Amino acid sequence: MPPSSENAPDIVAQAVALLRAGQVVGMPTETVYGLAADALRPEAAARIFAAKQRPLFDPLIVHVADREGADACVSEWHPLAETLAAAFWPGPLTLVLPKRDRVPDLVTSGLPLVAVRVPAHPLALALLRAFGGPLAAPSANRFGRVSPTTAAAVREELGDAVPLVLDGGPCAVGLESTIVAFPQGEGRPVLLRAGGVPVEALEKIVGPVSLEKQDKTAAAAPGQLPQHYAPRTPLRLVAGPDAVPAAARARTGLLGWGPLDGTGFARVENLSESGDFTEAATRLFAALRRLDGGHVAEIAAILLPERDLGRAVNDRLRRAAHA
Ligand code: TXA
Ligand code: MG
Repeated sequence: MPPSSENAPDIVAQAVALLRAGQVVGMPTETVYGLAADALRPEAAARIFAAKQRPLFDPLIVHVADREGADACVSEWHPLAETLAAAFWPGPLTLVLPKRDRVPDLVTSGLPLVAVRVPAHPLALALLRAFGGPLAAPSANRFGRVSPTTAAAVREELGDAVPLVLDGGPCAVGLESTIVAFPQGEGRPVLLRAGGVPVEALEKIVGPVSLEKQDKTAAAAPGQLPQHYAPRTPLRLVAGPDAVPAAARARTGLLGWGPLDGTGFARVENLSESGDFTEAATRLFAALRRLDGGHVAEIAAILLPERDLGRAVNDRLRRAAHA
């Protein structure tokens, strides 16, 4: 499908027609592009798993237009979840809560919990409202690969497996949503995935959040595998440019931020020259894609400070490096 046809005036109506027919549609959000399908129909959700080559043990995030849409999927709200929803929705925060029976087991990988969020993107919200129900949508990449932050990147990842990709421009946040759960008997919310809302921002609203090891148990955080977000080009973490021997630099791409001496490197991707966390998060996946474009044999990546959005960027880099 030519890109020019992808945002015709009736594009949302076209997308709704496909979704009603049980098909998948590429959907922009403020975090990353998602691959959306009717969350209440198992055969539609199954198409997501097929298109992504995603294992069935990895549950899907359910997108809704507003709090009422979430109520239709969630059977019981934790009081702190209500506070967080009021503070951060629409936005890059996903809440894991007890599900209603109407949410199919395929969507939650058999868990009694559903992950829900309201995306802060006008086109996603327009689609959700026009569709009139919840949309399951994982990031629109093949399983384990770098998440797409543009419509073109979705095409690159999934190609003909997706009949329509809505083009909402480059994603403003650029990293997946923060995922928070409220396990029974646990006094505080638990971080399942660092993401677009920094933990510090959550804690300002609800007090201490537990930074439980994100991949400790499959039950606590399914799908959070040690290897993920991986470019095809081998990526390793380095303390700084000097850690790469001069002789190796001509075949190495350097990824970092702040003042960065890229002398001798084949390519340099500076996530933010001024050391701005938000800018770095927005640029991360596009930078990884460029470095994966076939020009370098290896990627050397420098971690950001472990705070604010740096925590989420580092989580992605560590998983990308885990071979
Ligand atoms: O920003 C985002 O969250 C993007 C956009 C498209 O909204 N979506 C996204 O989905 O990142 P995905 O599939 O790449 O990540 C979904 C992850 C799962 O791997 C799992 O860790 C967690 O969300 N998850 C989903 N349902 C869950 C559940 N019922 N219990 C615990 N974790 C769940
Ligand atoms: Mg993903």
